Amino acid sequence: MEKPGNSFIELKNVSVLRGGIKILDNINLNINPNENVAVIGPNGSGKSTFIKLITGALHPSYTGDDTVCRLFGNSKWNISELRGRLGIVTNELQYDFHSDITGFETVLSGFFSSVGISINHTVTDEMKEKAVRMTDFMEISALNGRKIETMSSGEARRFLIARALVNEPEVLILDEPSNSLDISSAAKLHKTMRKISSSGTKIILVTHLASDIIPEIGRFIFFKNGKIFADGNRKDVFTGPVLSSLFDMDAELSEKDGICRLA
Ligand SMILES: Nc1ncnc2c1ncn2[C@@H]1O[C@H](COP(=O)(O)OP(=O)(O)OP(=O)(O)O)[C@@H](O)[C@H]1O
Ligand SMILES: [Mg+2]
Repeated sequence: MEKPGNSFIELKNVSVLRGGIKILDNINLNINPNENVAVIGPNGSGKSTFIKLITGALHPSYTGDDTVCRLFGNSKWNISELRGRLGIVTNELQYDFHSDITGFETVLSGFFSSVGISINHTVTDEMKEKAVRMTDFMEISALNGRKIETMSSGEARRFLIARALVNEPEVLILDEPSNSLDISSAAKLHKTMRKISSSGTKIILVTHLASDIIPEIGRFIFFKNGKIFADGNRKDVFTGPVLSSLFDMDAELSEKDGICRLA
């Protein structure tokens, strides 16, 4: 039996109930700290709920003896403990940043898990240097002084990724990062995810677009109706036939120059 602590996430018999419906139904899985994972499934299948569960934003609805929900080996955690281990970018988070905050303040606020910087935050020179490094890495430093509300979705998304990376997390979780990006911004994001992956940070990516899937992703977890529909490696799971039954339609998967397409 695997010892607690060996997994990034360990879920056994985990369900989440909302409005009398199991929106996650008896989930069992482990994700190890060395895996890059794609989470795929139809709208409403439970992907974002799963992300909330594995980022500590949500707890299982039942806590029987047979329920296990551990993050980095712990069933109890607080957000500041998780801060240095998990970076999170979701569309909901981006929505929170539609305010009078500059790009650079957005990145700095990653050190405090806050939305922007206030007089209660002590920003050190080391933090500023790190934030500069991250904006360089994300190729957005030219926009550091701009208010986030004046940026395009793609520009703001890159600042949020820099914010998530500022604590050098072990795992970066991206929930539909290419949402509302044009094809050129989505291609740029694809390259950025590869760069992040090669820097050693593991990626858990929720997406509806096959073109988001970077070659470094080896494990695929498919959700359907709140349940795990398939969970396995690229060769066995990320295929036209499995995707066809996941989405109840004929789907063909092709790949050219490391970019996947589903038609
Ligand atoms: N607080 C809530 N109250 C009631 N139902 C909820 C709540 N949160 C989520 N749900 C429902 O749970 C289901 C799963 O939602 P979730 O956001 O996890 O889906 P998703 O797979 O991320 O979908 P999408 O691809 O559209 O982002 C949906 O049917 C949603 O309406
Ligand atoms: Mg979602």
